[in-house]
Amino acid sequence: MDSVSPTPVPASAGSSFTSATSDGKALIRLDAIAKIFYTDEVETHALAGVHLEVPPGEYLAIAGPSGCGKTTLLSILGLLDTPTQGEYLLDGQPVAGLTASQRARVRNRQIGFIFQAFNLIGDLTVYENVELPLTYRGMDSAERRKRVLEALEKVGMSHRVKHYPSQLSGGQQQRVAVARAVAGDPLILLADEPTGNLDSTNGEAVMELLRDLHRQGATIIMVTHDPRYARHADRSIHLFDGRVVEDETGQKEQADESQLREAGF
Ligand SMILES: Nc1ncnc2c1ncn2[C@@H]1O[C@H](COP(=O)(O)OP(=O)(O)OP(=O)(O)O)[C@@H](O)[C@H]1O
Ligand SMILES: [Mg+2]
Repeated sequence: MDSVSPTPVPASAGSSFTSATSDGKALIRLDAIAKIFYTDEVETHALAGVHLEVPPGEYLAIAGPSGCGKTTLLSILGLLDTPTQGEYLLDGQPVAGLTASQRARVRNRQIGFIFQAFNLIGDLTVYENVELPLTYRGMDSAERRKRVLEALEKVGMSHRVKHYPSQLSGGQQQRVAVARAVAGDPLILLADEPTGNLDSTNGEAVMELLRDLHRQGATIIMVTHDPRYARHADRSIHLFDGRVVEDETGQKEQADESQLREAGF
């Protein structure tokens, strides 16, 4: 096990995609993470000893059958839920001991979420939906405006600022959800089947957005059932019954090697 720095970097230190951790350490480190849900008399072992390290700037895909623990893992990574056992270091800092309000603060400042069902608020406009997480941070309105408009510009939705979610297509709603996730300039972007409710054209557009963000230095962790999309990631892990059963690194290099072999080298 690596030793942990005695003076952990505060999670608030990195506020842009590119800052991340400067010493090459893992941005995320999970050690023997277990999650047990207790309902009536049933115990569900949703995660059973997950070890995972994610360096800053990595694009990681998570795959696996329904019920294997993917969303549970993302919820723990995003500090929406806490593990039953194990250790989670985020940007060098153990997060297990944080209070609920400290967790909320880290989540709000460091983590962007994109869910399968866009989770936009129906009675807020596009602009207000993207602005909301920034308001929670106590950011002043001029700074909020700048960030909201930049994020909407990035996803090609500037022409719809005054629309309500019900007046948008599914693909447009998902693009607004992406804008909302990136407007706060998070350290980590977590996406749970972001293309699940979209047709292939809109799905491809959202994936292209994620690829752009990754090229700009974002760390992205994405659950996807679709191998076409998983291929765009730097690395894929497969979960089965709450464990990591496969970890494919350097897919791009492997592809290059097989291309070389095919070419007779
Ligand atoms: N809040 C909860 N209470 C009780 N059991 C839960 C809870 N959340 C998830 N589970 C159980 O934990 C297991 C893992 O669920 P999870 O949502 O992580 O699966 P998943 O891999 O995301 O599946 P899918 O591909 O269908 O979204 C499942 O057996 C599920 O029933
Ligand atoms: Mg899920």
